[in-house]
Amino acid sequence: MGRGRFISLEGGEGVGKSTQIAALAEALEGRGVRVVITREPGGSPGAEAVRRLLLEGEETRWNSRAEALLFAAARADHIEKTIQPAIERGEWVLSDRFVDSSLAYQGEAGGLGIEAVRDLHRFGSLDFLPDRTLVLTLDEAEGAARARVRDGHGGDRIGSRPPSYHAAVDAGFRTVAASEPDRVRLVDASGPAATVTARLLYALGDLLP
Ligand code: TYD
Repeated sequence: MGRGRFISLEGGEGVGKSTQIAALAEALEGRGVRVVITREPGGSPGAEAVRRLLLEGEETRWNSRAEALLFAAARADHIEKTIQPAIERGEWVLSDRFVDSSLAYQGEAGGLGIEAVRDLHRFGSLDFLPDRTLVLTLDEAEGAARARVRDGHGGDRIGSRPPSYHAAVDAGFRTVAASEPDRVRLVDASGPAATVTARLLYALGDLLP
């Protein structure tokens, strides 16, 4: 059994990531792959503690730099404690969000700049990156509506930011995808869930056993 793979799923609010991660895991297990599902912020005991600091409380609880540092700190722990050990055991790790969320949310939408946040990742996690990143894309209004249905209204500290913030997140994901086309693929999240899952598998085609 060789080294496993690391795949991250990304996208704005309400694009259906949780449904798709579960469907993708099932499809991969059907091909004989052992799968670990994880998420950010979180995915290890330390990072889950940081998650609560990030997602609960007042909007003004952290300034934008402190927020980016907390995400980077949680990620360093998540990689060391959860992701790397699983990959070394030959498992495939599917993460609901990873560093590209920080690039899009804190870097682009939060105004720190994508490069500055990438530098934090270089420092915090030695630039450890997924083998493939799948960004689910949906018309902004449709995504916001789905998220509202799911969360009641707005959700957590970050999900409840204004539409202009979420539009910038979307632009950030597109910028990152354009600059790293081998690693990052945009996947249309519209239509029936099974169709979206098929698109995701297609975007992993060259990695599949
Ligand atoms: P979560 O409840 O996991 O939301 P979702 O279902 O949308 O994935 O909350 C995570 C929130 O944190 C979400 O609004 C995106 C945001 N986030 C960042 O701003 N930066 C990051 O690096 C990560 C991982 C998440």
